Amino acid sequence: MTAQKNNADNVEDEVMCDCTGTTRGKIYDLVTQGFDFDAISGKTGVNTGCGGCEWEIESFIDALNEGNKI
Ligand code: FES
Repeated sequence: MTAQKNNADNVEDEVMCDCTGTTRGKIYDLVTQGFDFDAISGKTGVNTGCGGCEWEIESFIDALNEGNKI
């Protein structure tokens, strides 16, 4: 049986906003295109539901803008 990659090990597929299903990879792509948190929220709907994802996503965007990798 071939070992299959577990989704939990695939950082890009990690859902950061449960309300919209927005993944870390999607946010990464938008940040690399120059979108800030508000623009990403407008495009994907993150932080427009329960708001519980705000801190984590903002921190992720800040980290990316500081040149860190996911
Ligand atoms: S988890 Fe993102 S708005 Fe609810």
